[in-house]
Amino acid sequence: MENRRRAHDSPLVEDVAEVLITEACLQQRVRELGAQLSEDYYDMNPLLVCVLKGGYLFLADLTRQLTIRHAIDFMAVSSYGDGTRSSGVVRILKDLDADIGGRHVLVVEDIIDTGHTLAYLLENLHSRQPASVRVCTLLSKPDRREVELAIDYVGFEVPDEFVVGYGLDYAEGYRNLPFIGVLKPEVYS
Ligand code: IMP
Ligand code: MG
Repeated sequence: MENRRRAHDSPLVEDVAEVLITEACLQQRVRELGAQLSEDYYDMNPLLVCVLKGGYLFLADLTRQLTIRHAIDFMAVSSYGDGTRSSGVVRILKDLDADIGGRHVLVVEDIIDTGHTLAYLLENLHSRQPASVRVCTLLSKPDRREVELAIDYVGFEVPDEFVVGYGLDYAEGYRNLPFIGVLKPEVYS
């Protein structure tokens, strides 16, 4: 077909102003984290809890780098706020399938921004008497933190900019980009 657009004329990529973390860098770091977790959780059969939706690609790639026995489960939460700022009031949209009592839990997050969502989640998980709870986040924005949190594994620290790709969305779009990028200002208006 003559007027069929080629795959590389991606309207998603055209909206990107800057690539902050390339696909190769992401994959390299995920390999390192997978190796580290395989050591730290050796013989512990951890339960990886993926926070939807943003964590789905990170979890999928991370678990393929694990050489140890483990299980996965999913939670979906929504944070009440004004859209760009989370309030700390969190609603559980989807809870875990199984009881985590006595399990070693690793929360797998896309990004920790103010920290309110994670603080709520950790408190909630701790109340279920797991053997341990740790956090592995792909990205962290330390300059934005409003709640002090111990984060055990961080992929990358990023500046205070709104980022998309590799699971992270703007208005539910751009999650499938294989890199982390910043959108052109006109996309938001
Ligand atoms: P927090 O409660 O402020 O830490 O917000 C965490 C959640 O806000 C993340 O799980 C993301 O869903 C969302 N979020 C925060 N910063 C960004 C960003 O730069 N891009 C996309 N989503 C973000
Ligand atoms: Mg989100």
